[in-house]
This record gives sequence, structure tokens and C-alpha cells, in this order.
Amino acid sequence: MVVDPWHFPRREFTARVLKLLGDGPGQALTLFGPRRTGKTEFLLKDLAPLAEQRRHRVIYASFWQAPLSPLAVLLHAMETSLLRGTFSDRVRRSVLGLTPTLKLSAFGAGVEAKVDLTALGGRPPDDLLVHLDDLLERVSGRSKATILLLDEVQEFARSAGNAPLVAALRTGLDRRSDRLRTVFTGSSRDGLAAMFSARRAPFFHFATPIDLPALGEAFVDHMIEVFRVVSRRTLARPGMLSAFERLHANPHFFRVLLDTLLHDPHLDVESALARVRDRIAVDLGYPATWLALTPVQRATARALAGGADRPFGRAFRRQVGDAIGESAPSPGRVQAALRRLERLGLADTSTGGWALVDPELAAWIREYDDGSR
Ligand SMILES: Nc1ncnc2c1ncn2[C@@H]1O[C@H](COP(=O)(O)OP(=O)(O)O)[C@@H](O)[C@H]1O
Ligand SMILES: [Mg+2]
Repeated sequence: MVVDPWHFPRREFTARVLKLLGDGPGQALTLFGPRRTGKTEFLLKDLAPLAEQRRHRVIYASFWQAPLSPLAVLLHAMETSLLRGTFSDRVRRSVLGLTPTLKLSAFGAGVEAKVDLTALGGRPPDDLLVHLDDLLERVSGRSKATILLLDEVQEFARSAGNAPLVAALRTGLDRRSDRLRTVFTGSSRDGLAAMFSARRAPFFHFATPIDLPALGEAFVDHMIEVFRVVSRRTLARPGMLSAFERLHANPHFFRVLLDTLLHDPHLDVESALARVRDRIAVDLGYPATWLALTPVQRATARALAGGADRPFGRAFRRQVGDAIGESAPSPGRVQAALRRLERLGLADTSTGGWALVDPELAAWIREYDDGSR
């Protein structure tokens, strides 16, 4: 893989995760981290290279907004892993080369089967689940366990039609626990819980949960240094630390800031920060999201953005009522508003009480919403 100078290696965490996977008693980990906090970057640029160096076979599959069914994505990733090439070649092939038909290897005696991946919606056909098991066997490691990296797996839980697949996967992994080890990632705590921690969840007690550690000063220092090498300019550390904090310690947002500074040498950090935040709002569609909400939903979101977290209490409901020019809505009405925000992925209870998921959206609402919208 071409080394990305901007990549900040999480060395300690990587070694710890690989040790857990290689020598730990557990056969799987779930790695939680909100969106754009570096899960995929960690899997592809930290964990996979180190694991390969230690002679593990590594297989990566991402279920994030995949146009194909999870089964199709999984089969494709495993079939590609049997091809020759380096891990990064195979990832590229598996991500970019997602062709609608997949030639299945060794499907039956000398018969070559092809499946149309786009047709694999809904309930997976039984013979393909058998093939999945066969593939798990063929990719599983001999002297060293094979490591499966399954990215954004909460997508599995979205549809009940995936249940047979999830069950087959669990059995297939369980039967080869010493030869196949898995990292599941997710950006929705509720979604992960639905698969791993609810009592009736298919992977109940299957995996050890770990959190992706937050990035801090070392990350900022790394970025300042790479920036200096690339541009011959030195960014003042205190200003950059403060900007990182105001961007919620989010590596993606911070790199957009660096990009902005790189391309416009005359911009000071404050102006660049303002520009980045405008760009985030546009990129992530905040205005459109906001306008698609009803007045009660907006008022509820606004109260959450302000830090209120007991939405059924009187104070919260009165605040919502004031905002929409009515008396305090019933708890049921607030509940309905919260459900809509939850369905849209805007709010959840993963931190205990109700809160907005994206801290930048919360900041945007606090700063730009003057109550007239
Ligand atoms: N360790 C890192 N070093 C440098 N940049 C990073 C790092 N982790 C994340 N980033 C930046 O943040 C962006 C989002 O990270 P990503 O791994 O896609 O998040 P997630 O998978 O959690 O949604 C990356 O594209 C990259 O620009
Ligand atoms: Mg990702």
C-alpha cells in the first residue's frame, strides 16, 4: 500500500487489538466509534498491515450503504481474498470491482457457478449459505488465524431478511473459532447492541466490545508536522489544539481544516475554521435535514442541542411548547418527535439520556438557529 503521510498510526491500540485477536480467549471483537472517527482508517491502515506482517490472512468487507445485500458483499470479499495479490490490491478490487455477477469458486464438483449479486435481496437462498460456510472453511487460517474485518455491521440488523445469514455466519465462525477471528465495527451503539448484546441477539456473548480510543494531542502534533513538511509552514500549536477541540476531536473534520489551510496560505485558522464548519453543514446536508423536520421535531432537536436530556419532563415540554407557540405538548407527542429523529439517525440514547448523535449538528443548531426557522 502506498504509505499515506497524513495517516496517524495508532500503534499501541493496534498492537493491543491484534494481541487480543491472536492470543485472546475470545474469537471476536466489536469496535464501536461514531461516524468519521477513524474506524475504517484503523482497520485498513493500522490493523490489516500489521496482521499481514504477522502472517495472518486478512479479509475486509464493508456493509456501509452497500448497494448489494450483506450476503453478496460477504461472498464477494471472501472470493476476492482467495485471489492472489496484496491486501490493498484485493481491497481495491473488492471495493471498486463490485461486479453484478460473481463467479463462485468450486461450487459443486467442477461446476462453475455464477450468481447475480444484485438479485440477492431479501432472504438468502440456502445453497448460497452452504457456499458461505464452504468459503469460511477455505479462507480460515492454518498456522495463523484468518482475520475478518466486517465494517459497519449494524446494517445487518436493518432487515429481518438477513436473520438466516447472520445465523449462518455465527455458526460458521463459531465452528472455526481458533482459525477465524473477527472484528465487527459499528457506528450505531443501538445497532450493535441489537446484534451483540440484547439477550436474544444472534451474536449474544460472541464478541468482546472495545471502543475506538479518541484522538488527542499526539494526533494534532502529527498533523502539524506533516503540514510543515508538505507546505513549509508552521501552524501554531495552541490554535490547532483549540480548533481540534472545537471540531469535536473529529479526524475527518480536522483534515478538512488542514486541507483548507493548505490550499489558501493567507487564511488564518479562525477564518478557515468558520469555512470548514460551513462546508461540513453543506456536505452533511444540515439545512436540508432541518427543513425536513416538523416544527415539533425541530423544537425537540433544538432542546436536545441545548443539552436538555429529559424530554418527557415538564421543563423540556414547556420549552418545546414555547418554541412552537403552543402550550407544552404531551409526552406522547414528544415521544413521536424523538422516534422520528431516531429513525433519521439524528438522535439516540446511546450515552444514557436522549441526545443528538452528531455534536457538530448540535453546534450548528445552537449557533445558526435563531428560532425563526
Ligand atoms: N489515524 C488517522 N490518521 C489520519 N487521518 C485519519 C485517521 N483516522 C481517521 N482519519 C481521517 O478521518 C476520516 C474518516 O475516517 P474513517 O476511518 O472513514 O471513519 P469511520 O470509518 O469511523 O466512519 C478519514 O478519511 C481520514 O481523513
Ligand atoms: Mg467507516
